[in-house]
Amino acid sequence: MSKKIVVLGTGGTIAGTSPSANDNVGYRAAQLEVGGLLQSVPGLAQCLGGHGVVTEQLADVDSKDMGWTQWRALAQRALHYLGQPDISAVLVTHGTDTLEESAYFLSRVLPASVLAHKPLVLTCAMRPASSMSADGPQNMRDAVRVACTRGAHGVLAVCAATVHAARDVQKVHPYRLDAFDSGDAGPLAYVEEGAVRWVHPCPAVGAQDVQWMDCVRESVWPRVEIVFSHAGADGALVRTLCATSPDAEPVRGLVIAATGNGTVHHALEVALLQAQLQGIRVVRSTRCAYGQIVPGDGAVNPFPAVGLSPVKARIALMLDLMR
Ligand code: SIN
Repeated sequence: MSKKIVVLGTGGTIAGTSPSANDNVGYRAAQLEVGGLLQSVPGLAQCLGGHGVVTEQLADVDSKDMGWTQWRALAQRALHYLGQPDISAVLVTHGTDTLEESAYFLSRVLPASVLAHKPLVLTCAMRPASSMSADGPQNMRDAVRVACTRGAHGVLAVCAATVHAARDVQKVHPYRLDAFDSGDAGPLAYVEEGAVRWVHPCPAVGAQDVQWMDCVRESVWPRVEIVFSHAGADGALVRTLCATSPDAEPVRGLVIAATGNGTVHHALEVALLQAQLQGIRVVRSTRCAYGQIVPGDGAVNPFPAVGLSPVKARIALMLDLMR
């Protein structure tokens, strides 16, 4: 049976265009179809190593506007394709701004039976396709290489010749081509002259709660907001969020982007304790770019710590509330 990879397009800068080939910031994201983007990949046939390609345009969004609708479509189409014996990988072209959120979301909702054997590779670009120095074609080329590499599995992100795991990847720079980092975990691999050099094995894919895939079929997701603790913080924002309003979904969870090793401004803490009494789930993540909250052996904190960045902690809490 001849194998294929599927490329799902969602928009982003990789599909962006600007009237000027010199302009790498004043462009419109999500202007080109994924089939056309593939045409621009140099030496594509060689990278594919005999695999066929299927493309599908799933969305045309600047990833700042990603939401439940696009995530649901992504999860459902990825599952549809990865479940087919002749499909060996799914590649997703995505904007850089929320790539880490989509990657983490997909890694949590797609079944282990699929992700343990096949890769879902997200790739992106920092410069639009119209740029005279566009990075998208090279990133796609590297992503295809990774997707076609024997043993690659789970949800991976490829940018600037570096392969990251969904759990760890984070956008850390607004402009540089090498905009992603995997924090303390470090990257999984590098793509060098077309060869994938692994420095860590792909993370093991643990058993998922199968109900999460059922949750993906839900049309409304639990509302979870992120609140920052910072100098001069108070409880006003939390109190406003927790007040019931006929115009908005009630807040069911709050993620605190806490200072340092999980500390919270005392005035904000009072409001968060009140939110907990109202039945709102409150968890803590650190706003530090590296590391995670280290628990001490002292008093138990009323807000459980989550070893994820605030945006990923939000997704984890949302999924937990959906179960
Ligand atoms: C986006 O995230 O869709 C725009 C920015 C980018 O892709 O770099």
